[in-house]
Parts: sequence; structure tokens; C-alpha cells
Amino acid sequence: MSTVSAAAHHIHRRTLSSALRFWSLGLALVAQVVTSSAVFAADTPAAQISAWTSAAKAGDPAYAPSAERGKTFFSKQFGHSTDMPSCAACHTSNPAGSGKHAVSGKVIAPLSPVANPERFADAAKTEKWFKRNCNDVLGRACTPAEKADFASFLVTQR
Ligand code: HEC
Repeated sequence: MSTVSAAAHHIHRRTLSSALRFWSLGLALVAQVVTSSAVFAADTPAAQISAWTSAAKAGDPAYAPSAERGKTFFSKQFGHSTDMPSCAACHTSNPAGSGKHAVSGKVIAPLSPVANPERFADAAKTEKWFKRNCNDVLGRACTPAEKADFASFLVTQR
């Protein structure tokens, strides 16, 4: 092999290996996108209940979600707001049916994920509304235990 062709061969191999490196980097990126959309798709009522349960257990190892407590919570009059005394004030006494906003009168789609598959399917959305509604009705954030109880009740409502 002449010196020139040896050098050409060497360059060719370098180009090939860097092309391969780019290719595998691309593959890794695709894999990451696929994985993160799989994480997004894992936002289900069950997955969210299980995450709140773990958080609640950290403070109280004996904690277990209760649909019964969630039901009581749903219609409890918290005495914090006159306009928005309870969750049921907007979500009505039947969470499998449409709600009606206590202030604006606007129709609210059913809160039960059995009646409305869009519920508890996006953790960011769920947390956003918990934060807002708990502050309005209770004057504070809901605890992970309250969220797990609440959602455990809702999944029984069809
Ligand atoms: C003033 C009216 C009002 C009250 C009172 C209210 N909510 Fe809501 N809630 C809404 C509206 C409006 C939405 C969003 C509607 C939509 O997405 O179509 C919503 C949505 C939610 C969601 C989002 C679920 C999801 O994943 O889409 C949760 C959770 C929720 N409310 C919990 C509560 C809890 C808990 C209480 C009582 C502490 C409560 N709400 C009281 C109006 C209210």
C-alpha cells in the first residue's frame, strides 16, 4: 500500500466511524423521545393514585387510599369560601355527570375518569386543578392522602 492510499484509507475509516457515532446518537435521541412519551402515556388514574399513595405513606406508613373518605371529602362543606363551599359545588353531587361552575355557570365535563377518559390522564393538568380548586375550597393545598382518597372515590363513579 502506498503512503497516499494508506492515508486515504485512514480518513475514510474515520469518516465512517464518526458517521456511525452520529447515527447511534440519533438512535439514542429517538429512544429517549419514545421513552418520555411512554412516561406521558403512563399518566393514568391508577398511576397517579399510586404516586400520591407513596407520598402519603412517607409520612404515615399505615396510610391506604379510601374511596369512602374520598366520597366524604367530595361533598364536605369546608366553611372556607361562601361561593365555593365544597368540591360538589361545581362538580355537583354526581361526579360521573357534567358539573356546573358555581361562579361562572359554565358547564364542566364529568370528573370521573370512568365517565370521562380525559380525567387523570395528564398529571400536570390534574395537579394544576387540584392546586387551584383546593386553594379555593379549603384555603390550602390538598395533601397527597386527600388526592389519593378523592381519585379512589372518582374511579368508582360511573
Ligand atoms: C369553582 C368551581 C370548582 C370547584 C368548587 C371545584 N372545582 Fe375542580 N374543576 C373545576 C374546573 C372548571 C375544572 C376543569 C374543567 C375541565 O378540565 O374541563 C376542574 C377540574 C378538576 C380536576 C382535574 C382533573 C383532571 O385530571 O382533569 C380535579 C382533580 C379537580 N377539579 C378537583 C377538585 C377538588 C378536589 C375540589 C374540591 C376541593 C374541586 N375540584 C372543586 C372547577 C371547580
